Amino acid sequence: MHRFLVSLFLSVLALPSPLTAETGYDAWLRYAPIDAAAQRRYGTLPANAVALGDSVVIKTAQAELIRGVRGMLGRTLRAEGNLPKESAIILATIAALSPVMPTGGLTTGLREDAFLLKAVAVNGFPCLLIAAPNDRGVLYGVFALLSKMARNESVTGLNEVQQPYAPIRWVNQWDNLDGSIERGYAGRSIFFENGNVRADLKRAADYARLLASVGINGCAINNVNADPRSLKESFLPQLARIAEAFRPYGVALSLSVDLSSPKVIGGLETFDPLDARVRAWWQRKADEIYEQIPDFGGMVVKADSEGRLGPSTYGRTHADAANLIARALKPHGGVVFYRAFVYNHHLDWRNLKNDRAKAAYDNFHPLDGKFDDNAIVQIKNGPIDFQVREPASPLFGGLQHTNEAIELQITQEYTGQQRHLCFLQPMWKEVLDFDLHADGGNTPVKDLVAGGIFHRPTGGFVGVANVGMDTNWLGHPLAMANLYGFGRLAWNPNLSARTIAEEWTRLTFGNDPTVVRTITAMQLASWRVYESYTGPLGAGTMTDILGSHYGPGIESSERNGWGQWHRADHEGIGMDRTVATGTGFAAQYPTPVAKIYESVESTPDELLLFFHHVPYTHVLHSGKTVIQHIYDSHYEGADRAEELVRQWSSLQGRVDEERYTAVRARLDYQAGHAIVWRDAICNWFLRVSGIADARGRVGHHPDRIEAEGMQLQGYVPFEVTPWENASGGKGIECSAQGQRCEAVFRFDRAAGWYEINVEYFDQKNGDSKFQLYVGDQKVDEWLANDSLPATKPGGDSSTRRRVDGLALRPGDRIRIVGFPDGEEYAPLDYIEIHAR
Ligand code: GCU
Repeated sequence: MHRFLVSLFLSVLALPSPLTAETGYDAWLRYAPIDAAAQRRYGTLPANAVALGDSVVIKTAQAELIRGVRGMLGRTLRAEGNLPKESAIILATIAALSPVMPTGGLTTGLREDAFLLKAVAVNGFPCLLIAAPNDRGVLYGVFALLSKMARNESVTGLNEVQQPYAPIRWVNQWDNLDGSIERGYAGRSIFFENGNVRADLKRAADYARLLASVGINGCAINNVNADPRSLKESFLPQLARIAEAFRPYGVALSLSVDLSSPKVIGGLETFDPLDARVRAWWQRKADEIYEQIPDFGGMVVKADSEGRLGPSTYGRTHADAANLIARALKPHGGVVFYRAFVYNHHLDWRNLKNDRAKAAYDNFHPLDGKFDDNAIVQIKNGPIDFQVREPASPLFGGLQHTNEAIELQITQEYTGQQRHLCFLQPMWKEVLDFDLHADGGNTPVKDLVAGGIFHRPTGGFVGVANVGMDTNWLGHPLAMANLYGFGRLAWNPNLSARTIAEEWTRLTFGNDPTVVRTITAMQLASWRVYESYTGPLGAGTMTDILGSHYGPGIESSERNGWGQWHRADHEGIGMDRTVATGTGFAAQYPTPVAKIYESVESTPDELLLFFHHVPYTHVLHSGKTVIQHIYDSHYEGADRAEELVRQWSSLQGRVDEERYTAVRARLDYQAGHAIVWRDAICNWFLRVSGIADARGRVGHHPDRIEAEGMQLQGYVPFEVTPWENASGGKGIECSAQGQRCEAVFRFDRAAGWYEINVEYFDQKNGDSKFQLYVGDQKVDEWLANDSLPATKPGGDSSTRRRVDGLALRPGDRIRIVGFPDGEEYAPLDYIEIHAR
């Protein structure tokens, strides 16, 4: 004991400052030293980490325990393989434990991957038992214990069992073999480079560790738009290396596959799912894979969707295709995920009865019961495509004799691409908790996908993660809460979004109550903030659906076959999906739900435009008209984005400088881009509806000076398309490369302190330089060197530079000098000056 106190004292002395710079690489597994008071709580923690059994996962669990305790308490537990005559933390499967101690009472009802944490006496010594039916459960138990300690929770007298809600808790990565990532926003692939698996797979192993720490047990590593080359025999040894990196963490490697592979790489003239040669090909392929990767998880299939080939080529069904693969995998214990994201992207937009939202149900409901037991239909949370708000897909209730999994998107394709803060758990929770009344009532989506309601053998949760080589994995330091939260919800969808946000914050930033309170509040607000300055009332995200899916692009969804229509015209907006007058989509829900959505009165405001086409003057339950709601919510949303900056700033000094600065930069950018969004949407709806903003804001920007209205030297005005993505529909750019251009105006307001905001366009095909002068004094200079998803000036590239604390007086000559670079011609939109 005395020795222990001395070492505790020494380790406290050795603790680095809690504000040591952090890169975010360790995410929520930092194991940062905990303070002296908290250390005392763990004073009786045994000194021995005993691992019974020597499987690689059990060894990982032991090493992780030692690593975590070392990091947090500064103590190195003794690694043991047998029970010593001392107290110990015992890591064991139930099977390994039974020769050593009676386990009768412990095992009851423990499912695969579950674990128990229990204080027990072994040979008269107080021990902490981390036991599970399988190795992976033991590892999960270790992570749970370490998480408790990192969050300063008590670990004495533990007696708890944690069970996963469903067997399937997977992530998908949309990585391409060339190293790019479809809809990835955090750098290149951690798996592939130039057509091969990376030589260094350390990050793959570290990723598996992160996944395992939140209970994720499978990862499909390549794009659902799969390259058939990934199945080539010569490629399999490379894949086996990734499996090897995953193995210590119990993460099963899986692959997305292209259904036409037997033809494209197999030399057959067909890929008909019912052809015996095709069947034999897949069987051989599965055998080959399992020979090299015995714990291979399974395959993911995207077919007959967005240009992918599928069973329709041969008049076969999705069940035929799914079962083809399922049967090849079956002897090896693998599963196939067959994606329900199947729709016709050449729909005739003029036909008001056409509706992409109906596609998944129309395609899969008739096949219910036709899928093999190791096939799982993977269904996106909503009927369209990861929009900022959608109702739950009716297909969750439409499959009663088929395994299903919900597909959630961690990568923020339509929700700000990790440049905007958007914590998605509140949205996911709404869907998971939504009662579809599939069987009379009390059939929330979480229970349908977990398989409990209709007694399915398997099912669960899939998250599209798309982490990349960026040091902090997802780009935005706060975005990792979505990966963490996905895992936590897949393990236990009954956790609240608040609990998850708090847990994540404590683990990621420490236990300072101000930090925990502030970040939790920011995270919890962020989805609704993002929604309120982007897509209103369920109309869709209103982004450019034909390109980046990032900035505003209101009309991009209309008059084309992609079916993400909102049908806004000069009179009204919304998709009529009712049975009475619309597409009939509402009838895909069981009656109690269908009834709610069928009527304008009972449809909740936030989904009104998903189900109904209404005039702009329609009065919402909130008492506002639709048009005024659009104006108000966009103004409020932009204000609240600015509020996020203020909230974060209050943490300066409480969060390490490195992460503080990185988050601050993203939030500043977001606040500026929220204004771009606000103005684009409000101006467009003002022009289209002809109805003014009752509060007089839209179209009036008294503090704004349009660049095209300034005195220009070298700069030339140009039109931005679509017009609403630039103030006044125009910007200016430097006409010829290699020269400098100037835009000048005279300040004519009262003397005082001001903030100047320069709205410029930051494309990825050049790094223009800007200088801001007041009189002859240069007050700021910056490079437009971000890598936003744009090669021209517009809503994707529009960026705000904030220069605060400037003393201005009437008559001051304010001047912007732009230096073009590459194909970016130092483009500018406007300047806005606010009194401070
Ligand atoms: C979205 C996304 C595509 C992706 C598709 C899918 O449409 O934009 O990049 O391939 O979803 O889920 O298959």
